Amino acid sequence: MAHSNMQTVAQEFPVETGMDRKDRRELAKMLTQIIGSSHVLYAKVRGVHWNVVGPAFYSLHKMTEEEYEDLNVAIDDMAERIRAIGFAAPTGLKEMMENSVISDQEKLLPANDMIKELVEDHEKMARLIREGVSAAEEVDDVKTADLLTERIGVHEEAAWMLRATIS
Ligand SMILES: [Fe+2]
Repeated sequence: MAHSNMQTVAQEFPVETGMDRKDRRELAKMLTQIIGSSHVLYAKVRGVHWNVVGPAFYSLHKMTEEEYEDLNVAIDDMAERIRAIGFAAPTGLKEMMENSVISDQEKLLPANDMIKELVEDHEKMARLIREGVSAAEEVDDVKTADLLTERIGVHEEAAWMLRATIS
């Protein structure tokens, strides 16, 4: 057991990059909410990707694939940002769901209803992340603000494109 003393679980560690511990902790909580919400949205977007039917099948199938691939990358970036500011990233579906502002899709609905819900979810994400940008800017965490600012545009664009397919 050569590695028996190796630390294998993430713990808070000291970070001396110019932000107070209290502020970093608040930002880690905020990022956890965005990550949890992104996870639930990821699952819903995939549900539409797999189950959508109708004349817009191909475009919605493709569009949702781009969305969930983007969410996958963004979730990773945001979780790694939590680590970089000294805290543990969320783990497990339960923690993701407990931190989500997006409600789970519990049963299959007609395609249009699911798309409408995705539009609202993307708008909800944009609002949540906008609050996150303000919180990050307040404590001069320009890196987190930058990462999240980009995400607002992505969610606004996704809402527009999905809305356009059903109008
Ligand atoms: Fe696929």
